[in-house]
This record gives sequence, structure tokens and C-alpha cells, in this order.
Amino acid sequence: MKRLQNKTALITGGNSGIGFATAQDFIAEGATVIITGRTQASVDAAVKELGPQAKGIVLDVSDMNQIKALRDKLKALTPIVNTIFINAGIAKFSSIDQATEEHFDEQFNVNVKGAYFSIQQVLLLMPEGSTIVLNTSINAHIGMPNASVYSATKAAFLTLVRTLSAELLPRKIRVNAVSPGPVGTPLYNKLGVPQEQLAQLAEHIGNQVPIGRFGRPEEIAKIVTFFASDDSSFVVGAELIADGGMSTL
Ligand SMILES: NC(=O)c1ccc[n+]([C@@H]2O[C@H](COP(=O)([O-])OP(=O)(O)OC[C@H]3O[C@@H](n4cnc5c(N)ncnc54)[C@H](OP(=O)(O)O)[C@@H]3O)[C@@H](O)[C@H]2O)c1
Repeated sequence: MKRLQNKTALITGGNSGIGFATAQDFIAEGATVIITGRTQASVDAAVKELGPQAKGIVLDVSDMNQIKALRDKLKALTPIVNTIFINAGIAKFSSIDQATEEHFDEQFNVNVKGAYFSIQQVLLLMPEGSTIVLNTSINAHIGMPNASVYSATKAAFLTLVRTLSAELLPRKIRVNAVSPGPVGTPLYNKLGVPQEQLAQLAEHIGNQVPIGRFGRPEEIAKIVTFFASDDSSFVVGAELIADGGMSTL
């Protein structure tokens, strides 16, 4: 039997990058997948590519009204959700000297507040045996210049994974986290770095990865599938760092 047969999963930011690759892997493992994306067009395009086991919801997690509507939108598609992959996120770089209140609020709103209240909305639909997977980042562990706000948002997940694990264990819901190092996704085009500097930045980052390359979205997806499935039934409140050795070698 496939590892996620008869399971329904919600993936925030499932239209792109790691979220999309995870949707593909979940579907290959038998799940029905509901992805969220910020626009109807991006959701429709992803659902079309993912095929009949995929459904979509438009959700901008920076908007609390949209988050509050999430549970009802889900209920229109499914009675239960067995897994949530909290993946929607943004990364913006700035020195502390240049950082604005908007820079700070935008990232905390999307990455932390959006994640937190998305989980809150979905929890009531989650039966015993469900799983939650948080997508944090290697930035929660390393000191990368100009990434202070982004890194702090991801570090917040490291405590969340433990506190929610303790809180939700009586309901037999397991919470775990994956912390990717650099992964080749559209995220890098959205950093706010001028296009002409992107290749240089990518080379600079790539050189810091001992394995000698960026990760691939599907390599992270496999880890999420492990946490989402019963293969990880004894794993609670854990973090798996997948960074090509960047933080440890
Ligand atoms: N790539 C890496 O090197 C790396 C490393 C460590 C951790 N991560 C984390 O992995 C996650 C996925 O990123 P990715 O690399 O796969 O990049 P990505 O392709 O840009 O995916 C990010 C996803 O989040 C969505 N999103 C952004 N803002 C949102 C909002 N306000 N409301 C709802 N959805 C929103 C994006 O929607 P749009 O398509 O509309 O922008 C997209 O679907 C992020 O949380 C990121 O921090 C990435």
C-alpha cells in the first residue's frame, strides 16, 4: 500500500517550489492534496499539472480574513485533513541598518503569523493520527549576514515544533520540521536582489554547501512525506536538517 493512501493533505504555498514538489510526492504516495496559492491563476495552473488527486484554494496568509475563511473553504472540499505542510513563506534580505518596519512585519506576518493561524484553522478538521510538518530553514541555525529577520521567522518554528508537539500529543497529532539549506526554487527570484546580482549570489551560496550544489525540491519533499506518513510514527517534535552539510561540516 502507498504510504499516504486514503489521506488528505493540505500544502500551503503548494503552487511552487518545495510545496509543489511535495504535492507531487504526496500524490505519488496515494494522497489527495489540497494546495493553496495566492492567486486563482497560480492555483489553477498547479492543480491542472498535479492532476485529478489535486484540489486548490486561494489563500494569502498575510490576510487574516482569508485565514479565517480557510476552514470553511476546506470543509467544502473535504471532511478531514490528515496532514498539513506549512510551507508558504517569503525571504527578503536586508542589513539591520537598512531594514524597515515593513520588511520586518511582512516576513513575520507571512512566515510566522500566517503559519500559526493557518494551523489553528485546520486543527479542528484533523483526526487522531494526523501530522503537521513545518518548513523552517537552515537560516534558523547559521549566522547569514542580511538575513536577520528571515532567520528569526524560521527560528520561531523551532520552538513551535516543540510546543505544538506537546500540546497536540494528547490528540495524537505529531508535529515535526524540515530545515532545508539552499534549494533551487523560484524563491531566489523574489528576494528583492537585482537580477544581475542573482547569479553571483547563487554561486556564492552554492560554494558554501559542502555537497557542492543546491538541493532539489523533490529531495525536501521526500522528507516531508516521511514526516507525514506512519514511517515516522515514533518521531515527535523533531527537526531534520537537509542542507548538504552546510551547517555541520
Ligand atoms: N529555496 C530555499 O533555498 C529554501 C531554503 C530553506 C527554506 N525554504 C522555505 O521553503 C518554503 C517554500 O519556499 P520555496 O523555496 O519553495 O519558494 P517558492 O517557490 O517561492 O514558494 C513559496 C510559496 O509560498 C507562497 N507564498 C508567499 N507569500 C505568501 C502569502 N502571503 N500567502 C500565501 N502564500 C504565500 C508562494 O506563493 P507565490 O507563488 O504566489 O509567490 C509560494 O507558493 C518557504 O517557507 C521558504 O522559506 C526555502
